[in-house]
Amino acid sequence: MTIKAKSVDGYDLYSEEFRADPHAHYRAMRSGCPVAHSDKWGGSWMFAGYEDVRELARDAEQFTSRAIEVAGPLEAAGGLYLPPLTSDPPEHRAHRNVLMPYFMPSKVAEMEPAIRAQARRLVDELARKGHGDVIADFAQPLTLSVLTSILGVPSGGQFTDWMVRMIRVGPKDQKVRAEVVHEIINYIENLLQERERAGNTGSDLLSYLNRVEIDGRPLSRKHKIGAGFLIVIAGADTTWSAIGSTLWHLASHPADRQRLLDEPDLLDTAIEEFLRYYAPVTVGRLAKKDVEAYGRCIHAGERVILPFAAANRDPEVFEDPDELRIDRRRNRHITFGSGAHRCLGSNLARLELRVTLEEWLRAIPHFRLADGAEIEWTGGQTRGPESVPFVVEPAPAGS
Ligand code: HEM
Repeated sequence: MTIKAKSVDGYDLYSEEFRADPHAHYRAMRSGCPVAHSDKWGGSWMFAGYEDVRELARDAEQFTSRAIEVAGPLEAAGGLYLPPLTSDPPEHRAHRNVLMPYFMPSKVAEMEPAIRAQARRLVDELARKGHGDVIADFAQPLTLSVLTSILGVPSGGQFTDWMVRMIRVGPKDQKVRAEVVHEIINYIENLLQERERAGNTGSDLLSYLNRVEIDGRPLSRKHKIGAGFLIVIAGADTTWSAIGSTLWHLASHPADRQRLLDEPDLLDTAIEEFLRYYAPVTVGRLAKKDVEAYGRCIHAGERVILPFAAANRDPEVFEDPDELRIDRRRNRHITFGSGAHRCLGSNLARLELRVTLEEWLRAIPHFRLADGAEIEWTGGQTRGPESVPFVVEPAPAGS
């Protein structure tokens, strides 16, 4: 293996260049040195090969999940307690089991009618208007309504603002991050107290967290707040970014859109391909001990970041990885992670994507990007389009 570390070191996850095309960097890493280092944003090591990213995500022996953020000062890393995401073995399993009942396929299936009704309402309104923004007018309100229904609170409110400050601004500005963390903690704590006063009888997640026990003991206050906090952040811009990228793709690739209209049986296969190609999430770990990789030394306490999107474009695993093929059958993508921490909300995210495509293509089968639309991509922990201005098009002649 030739080590060409210099050319791939010093990456900046938040630079315009990286956000616009992180895959150029990942490709350079795979053909030179597959582990890169940067001092930016608190410092990190990054891997780009499928096997490396997958193995590292599963390796709780050498890497802790205590700090999953991809940026921010290392001294502050681990400040957020979000069980089970930030839990390591042996506690991780029990922490994951606590949330499991809310994300089992049968529970998720119960949510479909409400998700569909909301998607239909939003998309019918956009079809009437003839234009809009995929993110602000559809993907954000849809995903946030799912989360507010899990929490049992009215939809709307400050969630979008929280997500933007927490995930987009926070990593680069610790003051903003501290403020928003404080606001979300207060919000969840107040809701937990409200539910307590009401006798915790509701089917919402927070009443449940007040009732549930681990080994015969109720959850600590810190655990309940952390689990509630996790659901708010894990299910929001992850999912709206996946929906946003998918609809951006269909707005700008009419042949793929037409094929989905002509062959609706391809929907599930296409969803997996959109997930592979536009994998939105990158997570971090901290090295528990010194680890050697490709002749480089990752020291104990240093951050390692795992771009699942990079793994999904590894030519060792995927044929023509940079081509989006909506009929790709063999697709072992790791968009939802791998191993013990594999996404608990993957059934729900897939349902939201399926309902989106079914309802959008029913009401707005033909659409394109608005004239002059310049798409900015977010970066860091989650990648997706900031906004996708579009216009509804008439059906092509003869169709
Ligand atoms: C397309 C949308 C989504 C993507 C791409 C995604 C991706 C991920 C990834 C990569 C992980 C693993 C993190 C790690 O290894 O450290 C994860 C964990 C998790 N996700 Fe998701 N996620 C999505 C949607 C959701 C939704 C909708 C929810 C719930 C409302 C959710 C809840 C969780 C939880 C609770 C975990 C922690 C699991 C554990 O640590 O055991 N996610 N997600």
